[in-house]
Amino acid sequence: KTYSVAILGATGAVGTELLALLEERKFPLGKLSVLASERSAGKEIEFAGDRLRIESVNASSFDDVDIVLASAGGSTSKEWLPIAAKAGAVCIDNSSAFRMQSHVPLIVPEVNPEAAIAHQGIIANPNCTTILLAVAIYPLHQVQPIKRIVAATYQSASGAGARAMEEVKIQSAAILKGETPQPEVLPYPLAFNLFPHNSPMTANSYCEEEMKMVNETRKIFGDSNIQITATCVRVPVLRAHSEAVNLEFHQPFDVHKAREILSTAVGVKLVEDFDKNYFPMPIDASGQDDVLVGRLRQDISHPNGLELWLCGDQIRKGAALNAVQIAELLIAKSLI
Ligand code: A2P
Repeated sequence: KTYSVAILGATGAVGTELLALLEERKFPLGKLSVLASERSAGKEIEFAGDRLRIESVNASSFDDVDIVLASAGGSTSKEWLPIAAKAGAVCIDNSSAFRMQSHVPLIVPEVNPEAAIAHQGIIANPNCTTILLAVAIYPLHQVQPIKRIVAATYQSASGAGARAMEEVKIQSAAILKGETPQPEVLPYPLAFNLFPHNSPMTANSYCEEEMKMVNETRKIFGDSNIQITATCVRVPVLRAHSEAVNLEFHQPFDVHKAREILSTAVGVKLVEDFDKNYFPMPIDASGQDDVLVGRLRQDISHPNGLELWLCGDQIRKGAALNAVQIAELLIAKSLI
C-alpha cells in the first residue's frame, strides 16, 4: 500500500529535509504534492530524480491526500490544516499552532507513540529543543522520575528558517571583509555573536521558546508535576542545537547506571571521551538521526542531580525526521 503525501512549506529548511527523508527512508509514497506560497508557485524542485512543480496552497490542495507534512509557519497551519483534516488527511504539523490543544497529540515516537491513537486529523510535532531533550532524558525518567530540569540551550540559525541560515553565512563573509552588515531576517547580528532567543517575550519574562520547553515536555511525558526552567540562546551555528541539562531526581541516580541506560536508548548516541575532552558537537550532530549525548556527571552541588550535554540536528530529529517518524508510526499502527 502507498500513501498520498502533501508537503506544505516544501521550499523551506524543514520542507527540503522532509523531501530528503521521504526518499532516504523509502517511505511508501503514492502521489507527492509540494505546496508553498504564491511566491514559489510554478517553480520546480527535484525529488528522487524527478522534477516536481510547486503549487501554491489552495482549497483543493488536499483532495485525495492521506498525509500532510506541514512546516510553513503557525498562521499557514491554522488556516489550512483544519481544511486538510476535514478533507480526510492526517496532518503532522511542525508549527506551534496546535501543540497545546488538549485533543491534539504531541508526539515524540521514542517517548509517547501511544498518543497517536487518539488523533482527530491533526498531530503536532513538538518544538525542536523539546524533542531533542525528550529523546535524551526520557529513558532516565522511565527508570526514576525526574523532579526538576534546568536547561540552557545553544540554538542554531536553522530554527529561524532557511533565510536565517543564509543570513549567518552572508553576514560572516561580510564581517571578515571588514563590513558591518545590518541583519534583515534575525533581529540582531548572529555571526560572531549570540543573543537570547528571539521568540516573543511572555508575561513571566520567559520567552515563548523557553515556555514551549516547559509546557511541551510536561505534555509529552504526561507529567504535569515535573518542574522545568530554561534559558534559550541563539548561537552562530548553522543547523544543530545543543543543550546543557541539569536533572534533579527524587533520589540519587547513579551516573554509571545513567550511562548504561543511555548507551542502549533508542534515538540516542553516547559520545564521550573524557581523556580527549571529546563530547557532542553541533558539527558532528548535523545530518545525523540520533541525539548525541555526553558529559554525563554527578552534580557536585546536589546529591540527586545529574548533568548532561546534548547535541541534535534541529532540522532532522528536531523537526523533519520526527514528523516522518510520526507518519511511519501511523502507518505501522494502522491509524491512517
Ligand atoms: P515560500 O518559499 O513560497 O515562501 P522556512 O521555515 O525555511 O522559512 O520555510 C517556510 C516555508 O513555508 C516555505 O516553504 C514557504 O514557502 C512556506 N510558506 C510561508 N508562508 C506561506 C503561506 N502563506 N502559504 C504557503 N506556504 C507558505
